[in-house]
Amino acid sequence: MQAKVFISRDLPQNGISALEQAGLKIDVYPGELPPSRTELLKRVKGCDALLTLLSERVDDELLTAAGPQLKVIANFAVGYDNIDLVACSKRGIAVSNTPGVLTEATADHAMMLLLATARRVLEGDRLVRQGQWRGWAPLQLLGVEVSGQTLGIIGMGRIGYALAKRAKAFGMTVLYHNRSRRLKAETELSVRYVDNLHNLLSQSDFVSLHTPLTPETHHLIGQAELAVMKKSSVLINTARGPIIDEQALVEALKTATIWAAGLDVFEREPSLSAGLAELSNVTLAPHTGSATRQTREAMARLCATAIIAALKGEAAPNILNSEVFSS
Ligand code: DGY
Repeated sequence: MQAKVFISRDLPQNGISALEQAGLKIDVYPGELPPSRTELLKRVKGCDALLTLLSERVDDELLTAAGPQLKVIANFAVGYDNIDLVACSKRGIAVSNTPGVLTEATADHAMMLLLATARRVLEGDRLVRQGQWRGWAPLQLLGVEVSGQTLGIIGMGRIGYALAKRAKAFGMTVLYHNRSRRLKAETELSVRYVDNLHNLLSQSDFVSLHTPLTPETHHLIGQAELAVMKKSSVLINTARGPIIDEQALVEALKTATIWAAGLDVFEREPSLSAGLAELSNVTLAPHTGSATRQTREAMARLCATAIIAALKGEAAPNILNSEVFSS
């Protein structure tokens, strides 16, 4: 019988075509908005494979709704905090993500947010667009210098490393905090390890977050952490919203505890914490870190490869729990 794949959103066509060419029966939930939970639970029933996005909670309830034939879930993201990996492994369901292919796009986005926030690009855009610009003035929209400043990177994985490379090209000093030391980054990029998070925060002019969201990193940056940052500092987040206590950040931005923030991700996407959108010292992006055509096509390709391989009982390189193939 033809294996069935549910895809929870419209994707780049290359991924869908690859699955079709492999002879799979595809059900794509159309459009940009996620299916409701009820709709999702209905659509996954009887599927052999699911292609999910970070907005879909994959838990025991969903796995039960899908049924015992479900063999693989390909998550269209590098982050997989939406997936109960233990529950999937217990049922022998392979889970894949999309590492590697979005590293450069996301590091570009973090650097863009850093520069745009430092130089108040969106405030300038609004001023010009609204016809309120009266001409060049020495004290107009003064930002902060990037070159020669210190960037603290929290999480020196692939994306943290790629951002460090960019920051070095901009003449920045780079510090990093990570669960373990990254000697390759230290040697190749002359970045310096700081063991204590608060020490890194207090020494940095810019701080950028690149950790996965786990119970340990939930609200890693809260009131106490914002309080030790420099008053002139800028916080960048392209990782996951709940790593920052967003209400504490709003307060810190309002009271000038820190100078500004550049955010691509939010605690309760797509909603924003009260007061965030009213602040002028924050640059907001709608979770578009990996949103280039090339990257999204590469993500679609990886998902399709993982599904096709797993349905044949083979492990793809991007399977997170490849032990399921030996059980
Ligand atoms: C990811 O891959 O985890 C991003 O947040 C979506 O591109």
